Amino acid sequence: MNTMCLVNLNKGDRKTRNLLELIDKLERDKALSYKEWVKLIKGESPEIRDYACAKASAVRDAVYGRDIYIRGLIEISNYCKNDCLYCGIRCSNRNADRYRLNKEEILDCCAQGYELGFRTFVLQGGEDPHYTDEVMVDIVSSIRALYPDCAITLSLGERTMESYRRLREAGADRYLLRHETANEEHYGKLHPANLSCSNRKQCLYNLKELGYQVGAGFMVGAPYQTAENLAEYMLFLKELNPAMVGIGPFIPHHDTPFADFEAGTLEQTIFFLALIRLMLPGTLLPATTALGTIDPKGREKGFDAGANVVMPNLSPKDYRKKYELYDNKIHTDSEAAENKRQLEKMVEAASYRIAAVRGDSKNM
Ligand code: 5AD
Repeated sequence: MNTMCLVNLNKGDRKTRNLLELIDKLERDKALSYKEWVKLIKGESPEIRDYACAKASAVRDAVYGRDIYIRGLIEISNYCKNDCLYCGIRCSNRNADRYRLNKEEILDCCAQGYELGFRTFVLQGGEDPHYTDEVMVDIVSSIRALYPDCAITLSLGERTMESYRRLREAGADRYLLRHETANEEHYGKLHPANLSCSNRKQCLYNLKELGYQVGAGFMVGAPYQTAENLAEYMLFLKELNPAMVGIGPFIPHHDTPFADFEAGTLEQTIFFLALIRLMLPGTLLPATTALGTIDPKGREKGFDAGANVVMPNLSPKDYRKKYELYDNKIHTDSEAAENKRQLEKMVEAASYRIAAVRGDSKNM
């Protein structure tokens, strides 16, 4: 071996050691500086990732055990007034086959879900003007009256403080609103001009102020995303201190301007799940559908990186394939009960267990 080679080897070892130390520091202090984040994100390698995952999984075990919380996801509408460049249900996609569920259909989903042991219902949809405050308050208060022991999570995009207040008073407990990116310039590359990063962040703070358990999040590998952007997301998440963080890989949708961009990777998504678990030990971290879409074992790998939530679909099966945010989104044509059995098998085979409880966040 010549000396040149030795020098490189030593350098490489030192670099790896520094990165491993950063992960130790993150675990200990639950925070890193911007510069440290950039260094760690740029330095990702299989060794660094495995180290972060092992630690993150141990942290999840210590905080939540091996319980995986399940959420019954009801995709209430794929109408959307927004035109986000990455999303398959953007308003200018004329090929999307639009649908919306009425109150009875939503309540049917809840009834089925309750029977199967779900104690959280997530009502998610595009920003569909049909669901005014009056319509939503009626739906939410009906669910609240029928299922006092369940958590109601909403994921309906940006609304006014007043609207969030009315929905909270009607009985909603939680709200999912991914920040998508914490950088205004990057936000502008993913969204139409009428949407802004500052308003998105304001919505998240408003929701917190109203006492919602708030979920933020982002797509890993979104177009134009840099290590510096990702570092900013981590600082923003630390500051927001959300009860939940939903992340998944970006996956192109053929009818969007981002059709030809590369998808985010399984590896980087797993790495970020682990980093978020280390930074916010008590947060709820779903192994998302997008993660299960890019890899058949994606969700199991997500658990092994510290994830502890799955959100199977309770929507009526004829509608499921229409809620197509990205290509090849996994969905089944089977009944909710069959889905749940499959999920149970998957979770148990990965040496975890499904917990039929509300599953509130330990980061509140
Ligand atoms: N790939 C992955 N995730 C997507 N989302 C929307 N479009 C895509 C896509 N092409 C995510 C966004 C949004 C959530 C509901 O789905 O992060 O907040």
